[in-house]
Amino acid sequence: MSLSYATTIPLAALTLAIVALAALPMHAQETDGYVGDPERGRVVYRSVGYCGNCHGWAGDGKSGTTLQAPVGPNLRKTTLDTAALIEVIGCGRPATPMPYHDRAAYRDGRCFGMDLEDFEPGTAPMRGKTFSDRDVANVVAFLEAYMIGRAEPTYEECAAFYDNPSARACAGLQ
Ligand code: HEC
Repeated sequence: MSLSYATTIPLAALTLAIVALAALPMHAQETDGYVGDPERGRVVYRSVGYCGNCHGWAGDGKSGTTLQAPVGPNLRKTTLDTAALIEVIGCGRPATPMPYHDRAAYRDGRCFGMDLEDFEPGTAPMRGKTFSDRDVANVVAFLEAYMIGRAEPTYEECAAFYDNPSARACAGLQ
């Protein structure tokens, strides 16, 4: 018995579709629909990723007691969307001081299809403190909830950031 064209064509199409889906590269920071937690993200920003060392606690590239070169751009004014934020935090920006934080970055092609050995000497991306995909999503949720689009930093924001109303970095804001 042979299958009619009417049956084989849809079957072939379905097989192709399944093969194509299986071959899709896993996206870098695949979070399985996980929704980032801004409160956890604050902790990641503050004391896991040490983002404030370059961006300041307020993300403005100015505020803080630990700020040191290379100073990062003002994150309050970023125009990046969620996907672009996930990418730049996970993969960093090669050839700039913005480091990558995804612990599997540049090992399996998840970042721009590149692995560390693909970079010419001296152009490899910087490695920052690394953490999980979920913590990348958490820190992005924090930026979106508490930083992006905000005006000048306030004392209240500072006290909340440090979980401490008498944090040294907040003294000048009162
Ligand atoms: C060693 C310093 C340094 C550290 C640590 C650092 N950054 Fe950056 N970051 C930079 C610099 C410099 C740039 C600008 C890169 C460029 O030239 O495009 C940048 C760019 C960015 C951008 C892109 C902004 C835009 O609008 O293009 C985001 C978002 C960002 N950083 C978030 C973070 C977060 C979140 C962390 C912590 C997990 C972090 N950074 C840690 C230095 C740093």
